[in-house]
Amino acid sequence: MKTIIEPFRIKSVDPIRMTTPRQRLECLRRAEYNLFRIAADDVIVDLLTDSGTGAMSSDQWAGIMRGDESYAGAHSYYRFLDEVERLTGMRHILPTHQGRASERILVEVMIGPAGAGRGKVVPNNAHFDTTRANIEHSGAEAIDLLTDEGARPEVIALFKGNMDVAKLQRLLGERAGDVPFVMVTITCNSNGGQPVSMANLRQVRAACDRHGVPLFLDACRFAENAWFIRTREVGYADVPPRAIVRQMFDLADGATISAKKDGLVNIGGVLLMRDEAAFRRASNLLILTEGFVTYGGLAGRDLEAMAVGFEEVLSEDYLRYRIRSTEYLGEKLREGGVGIVEPPGGHAVYIDAAAFCPHIPAHQFPGQAVACALYEHGGIRSCEIGSVMMGEHAVMELVRLAVPRRTYTQSHIDYVIEVVLEVRKHAANLRGMRIIEPADTPDAPKVPDAPKAPDAPKPADTLRHFTARFAPL
Ligand code: F0G
Repeated sequence: MKTIIEPFRIKSVDPIRMTTPRQRLECLRRAEYNLFRIAADDVIVDLLTDSGTGAMSSDQWAGIMRGDESYAGAHSYYRFLDEVERLTGMRHILPTHQGRASERILVEVMIGPAGAGRGKVVPNNAHFDTTRANIEHSGAEAIDLLTDEGARPEVIALFKGNMDVAKLQRLLGERAGDVPFVMVTITCNSNGGQPVSMANLRQVRAACDRHGVPLFLDACRFAENAWFIRTREVGYADVPPRAIVRQMFDLADGATISAKKDGLVNIGGVLLMRDEAAFRRASNLLILTEGFVTYGGLAGRDLEAMAVGFEEVLSEDYLRYRIRSTEYLGEKLREGGVGIVEPPGGHAVYIDAAAFCPHIPAHQFPGQAVACALYEHGGIRSCEIGSVMMGEHAVMELVRLAVPRRTYTQSHIDYVIEVVLEVRKHAANLRGMRIIEPADTPDAPKVPDAPKAPDAPKPADTLRHFTARFAPL
């Protein structure tokens, strides 16, 4: 069967308000061409992020009703603990309100408060923005150790999220004492939702063991990564997703999880640690800023919904549909001549905006121009990941189409494909953008592949894409 069908039916619907290109142009002008400033009601298909935007199942909603709101020791907490322990095999488990809360606590436990990290370095296959920002906030350096193929968007390979183990060994050989922990992000969001193989995780583990450095997973999309292992790595074709997930976690000393992705919930996170003393410090920090250890900044009902989500996400029917649906979007865009980061990732397809409109130079923000055109033409909200978001650190000009879980139907995906291909036909008419605020944004042309500035961006610098105002040139 070629047709992709959703392995669920719809019981409750949210109406989408249909708008015209003229109305959307008006919205764009009012939002000063920043899609973060557009009201969600003015969007037809919202592909801004796959984080917290998924639909919950009737079992999860039933869990919401069962939620126990006791301050301490709620039954929802124990339900959550049991499910996360069954999933990961780890016994020291803290709920948090979302992934970055887990990251902040992990960094403070493993590195120390702001400033304590000077001279230290945390490698990752590629850090997500918030892990990078948290690590840099401590004063430590956050470095990416992707393989060469992982860093090349046009290369089609099976596990482009893999860490370059030779580079890791070199780093650990030279300065293991400066490495408080190693992190691996599964799947790797920053290079296109690309998976990490089990073989690679094993090699990373072995390198960490050799130098006595702990290994943490940034495991937001653990189930999608497991499905890629099952379908792409030799020896896993018949292994159930749950067993693959367990093998991945067995290789780690702990993990941060944003449950807004593969937890299938709208809010929630997890921090996992095997080390007892570290866990105790983390628990105290949790109480300081998130809440008591049995709710971690969430309501009891959220813990209940997460417990159900962590179970549902491992359904083979769901994962097959999920990965195939994203792949289909990528395939159709590629067939229509749109350059994408290859191969399509688990949660998103990334359009190469520099190739989409070669007449717009990086300093005129081709990704922003394409994202605005997709919105004006078809009401699709996407996310620029290029010179707007990364400033001078951008190496590519991308537009991310992130697919929320269980939210849109295959017809929505077909509509998205149609819109992108229509916009592409007129891409030569797209105009670049100029940032009118913040005013100090340099307009100078960027040198492609410029080496990273030694003073890495401070967290505040990484946030301009949320607030900047643009004007078309
Ligand atoms: N790690 C990865 C790999 C992520 O993709 C995200 C979030 C986080 C950590 C932080 O989790 O948002 O719950 O605090 N990614 C979202 C995205 C925001 O759109 O890709 P959070």
